[in-house]
Amino acid sequence: MKKYIVAANWKMNNDVRPSVDFAVSLSKNLLKLKQTEVILCPPFTSLFHISEILKVTSLKLGGQNMYFEKSGAFTGEISGSMLKSSGCQYVILGHSERRHIFNESDEMIQKKMTAALEIGLKPILCLGEKLEERQSGATHNVLERQFKSAFSVVSGDRLESCVIAYEPVWAIGTGVVATPEQASEAHQFIRELLKKQYGSEKAELMTILYGGSVKPSNAKTLIEAKDIDGFLVGGASLIEQDFIGISEIVERHLIAKET
Ligand code: 13P
Repeated sequence: MKKYIVAANWKMNNDVRPSVDFAVSLSKNLLKLKQTEVILCPPFTSLFHISEILKVTSLKLGGQNMYFEKSGAFTGEISGSMLKSSGCQYVILGHSERRHIFNESDEMIQKKMTAALEIGLKPILCLGEKLEERQSGATHNVLERQFKSAFSVVSGDRLESCVIAYEPVWAIGTGVVATPEQASEAHQFIRELLKKQYGSEKAELMTILYGGSVKPSNAKTLIEAKDIDGFLVGGASLIEQDFIGISEIVERHLIAKET
C-alpha cells in the first residue's frame, strides 16, 4: 500500500519551548488520524525534546537537513547519526532553500542520500524548478537532472525508504500555489522517471508529496489530483488549525477512496 504523508517543515521558526508546546498540542489533535502519516520537521534544537513527546503517538520526526560525513571537523554541521539519536526517522534533503540559498549541488545532495540511507534515515528528497526554468520550458529537464543525480545511489531494495517532494520554487512561500493540473503533471513525470529506473510495481508504491503554498483552502483539489500523495507544508504548518485542517483533508480523501 502506498503511504500518504503530510509533513511539516517548520524551517527556521520556533524556539525550543514554543516548539515543544506546539508539538504537544498537534499530537493530541492529530490522534484520530489512522491512515495519514504525519511527520514533524522542527529545527535541530527541538528535535530531541519533541521526540520524547512523539514516542507515545503515531507522529514521526524528521530533520530538515544533514551533512554527509559521519563526524569530524565540520563546524556547524549535523550528521545523520545525530539526527537518528535525536529520534528522527526522516530527513529532508535537497530543499530548494538549501539548493539556492546555501548553494547545495546535486552532487552534494547525492552524497547526503547515500549517507542518510546508510544510517537508516528515510530521505524526503525535494525537487523543483525555478520560475524562469518553468517559463523557458525546462521544468522536465530540471526534475530529471535532480532526480537522476539523487537516485543514482538508491538501489531498488532501498527505494521504499525514500519519499519525493515536488516543490516548484516559484510556489514556495509566495502564496502562489501550483494548480492541481501543474502539480499533477510534474508528479506524473516523476512517477515515469521512477518507472524507468525501478519498474512499475515499485514506482507505484512511492509517495510523491507536493509542497508550495499548501493551505486548507487548496489542499482538497490538490490531493484529488492524480499522483499527489500528500504534502510538505511550510508556512501553514506553523498555524495549528491550518496544519490540522490539511492533515484532515488528506485523511478524509483516503477514507473516501476506500469506500
Ligand atoms: P510554503 O508552504 O511556506 O510555501 O513552503 C513550502 C516548503 O518549502 C515546504 O518544504
